[in-house]
Amino acid sequence: MRVAYVNGRYLRHRDASVHVEDRGFQFADGVYEVIAVIDGRLVDRDGHVDRLERSMAAIGLAPRVERRVLVLVINEVARRNRLTNGLIYLQVTRGTAPRDFPFPNPARRSTLVITAKPVADIRREGLAADGIAVITIPDVRWRRRDIKTVALVPQVLGKQRAHDAGAYEAWQVEDDGLVTEGCSSNAFIVTADGRLVTRPPSPAILNGITRLSVLDLAARERVPVEPRPFTVAEAKAAAEAFLTSASHVVVPVVRIDDTVIGDGRPGPLTRRLRAAYLEAAAAEPRAVGR
Ligand code: PDD
Repeated sequence: MRVAYVNGRYLRHRDASVHVEDRGFQFADGVYEVIAVIDGRLVDRDGHVDRLERSMAAIGLAPRVERRVLVLVINEVARRNRLTNGLIYLQVTRGTAPRDFPFPNPARRSTLVITAKPVADIRREGLAADGIAVITIPDVRWRRRDIKTVALVPQVLGKQRAHDAGAYEAWQVEDDGLVTEGCSSNAFIVTADGRLVTRPPSPAILNGITRLSVLDLAARERVPVEPRPFTVAEAKAAAEAFLTSASHVVVPVVRIDDTVIGDGRPGPLTRRLRAAYLEAAAAEPRAVGR
């Protein structure tokens, strides 16, 4: 049976709900995280919990439970769902109160929801084999993209545009022509001389936990890294391109708009970093199964 955790209770997924006046529902006044489970192992769990705490602090949300309990509940949701491959989703909102813009006074307990979704091909072998196409779109989001809020309408519209164009992701571009990131992933390119280029952390992007792990692995493998923004034109002329996210690990990008990247096949550095990431994930402690 699929189980969801809502405010201290484990419920049947299909019966799980929050109140109609939950501030997450009415104002998108909340933050979230997505953690991959690969072969029963929670990948980069602590990094995701760290970022959830930062996101909550950034919008003035008090945690509903202490970190130790949160980690126990994450593991318990994975275990109760027998989630060997899939995604754990966490959402925290400013709780339930009559609709009014300022913070509720007195403060309400924050809403905490944790769900599990099986994804058979969580390694995304299917996408990794041939690579994906991305389109480029204007970045119309607010200026605090480092906070992982549930206000995702720009990304929903961007992903739908990608879908309608037969692509898998949309890379968002600032007015200055520089790529920020995908709608739900970070963007990387590889230059002709084998340098890995990705935008450095700032309020302009979400500093992906997968991004950070991939950069660590690149450093360990002595891959030269250039943390800097890049233009759409530079990306189109790159030797390789790829994206990273908890839900998609490392996925090669072989087309940007109408331009084929490199020889149109997943590149060697992309494949190497993807393999290194999956290898590191396989060394995480097991939360579910033997
Ligand atoms: N998205 N940038 C944006 C805008 C994102 O929404 C995400 C993650 C990332 C990658 O971050 P990480 O490596 O920590 O997953 C970058 C998640 C997976 C989602 O919304 O489903």
